[in-house]
Amino acid sequence: MDNRKRHLKHTVICALVAVVVLFLYLNTERQLGSPGAPAYRKHSALPSAAEPQWEDPGPYHVAYPRNYKFIMDDTPTCKTTTPYLILMVPIAPHDVATRDIIRKTWGNETLVQGELVETVFIVGLPGGSDAEQQQEKLKQENQLHHDLIQSNFQDSYHNLTIKTMVMLEWLAEHCASSAFVMKIDSDIVLHVENLVKLLLDLSTPKQNYMTGLVWWHSPVLRNPFIKFYMPRSVIEESEYPPYPLGMAYVMSLDLPAKILGVSHQIKPIYIEDAYLGMCLKRLGIPPTDPPDKAMFLVTPEHPLSDCSLSKVIALMTTSTLQMTSYWERIRQKVRC
Ligand SMILES: *[C@@H]1O[C@H](CO)[C@@H](O)[C@H](O)[C@H]1NC(C)=O
Ligand SMILES: *[C@@H]1O[C@H](CO)[C@@H](O)[C@H](O)[C@H]1NC(C)=O
Repeated sequence: MDNRKRHLKHTVICALVAVVVLFLYLNTERQLGSPGAPAYRKHSALPSAAEPQWEDPGPYHVAYPRNYKFIMDDTPTCKTTTPYLILMVPIAPHDVATRDIIRKTWGNETLVQGELVETVFIVGLPGGSDAEQQQEKLKQENQLHHDLIQSNFQDSYHNLTIKTMVMLEWLAEHCASSAFVMKIDSDIVLHVENLVKLLLDLSTPKQNYMTGLVWWHSPVLRNPFIKFYMPRSVIEESEYPPYPLGMAYVMSLDLPAKILGVSHQIKPIYIEDAYLGMCLKRLGIPPTDPPDKAMFLVTPEHPLSDCSLSKVIALMTTSTLQMTSYWERIRQKVRC
């Protein structure tokens, strides 16, 4: 008797919890997916929509393309110089400390395997209550280094796709005579020599080429409580097209203009690397796997052995201290 009662009580509680969870889930999906959402987002695959209709930046896609302007752009890179390789670092406006570390480490490599390599940083507008002071500091920093490119969109995590697209605009306008660009995040240590060797290799395509840590079957995540959530109303497919992970990808410099050319037809989502994958798919240009998977390491076991470090191109770090110590070892030419 007692047991049966307990069992019944248990079942009722379970059912109640299930109902509450379902209710919360549906409610969240509704709230996240549709405050004032225009009809096209509920029927996103209308093939007749030749016009870019996604003007309203909902929570899961961003307003791009728009008329963002460069408000700081006096770097000599690609204007008075023609680097073989440009290292383009998207970074938060306030993060001068990391920029200084990069300038002293892999960002200070200018002649590699006889090829000119230059590093520039790309930022948006600083936010917060001290935005004006931050902007003033940025100007002073740029007067010292002339390596900052700034566009007038609000710099934020959810605006990373805008950052990537204005970066491509800048490259298409100034760097078409250069060979390659690597977009590299500020927490990555770069083995510049290994990268240049790969790019110079005769088997590496010089056009329609994009490589990095390619995710061939990246699922579109539907859990609204996690990072990278993407509602069905924005993307119906269950997988993103293949794309190299945003930590560090390299492309031949014919691609920026080609990607920009098709980007008007593709709804801009806030996940910048997956968005580039969608543009590549439209272009019919798949990304290329690197010759060795060990060249791009996103969650390595630190510290990396000498042997692994000697093969790496891009390696995610957890602190600037770690970045500096890896760079020291790379500079000392650790071997297998
Ligand atoms: C960059 O490297 C050069 C040598 O190539 C060196 O003279 C200079 O001090 C380095 N700059 C920084 C900021 O470490
Ligand atoms: C993205 O940038 C645009 C243009 O500056 C701005 O209106 C918008 O609020 C920004 N979005 C986020 C999430 O910061």
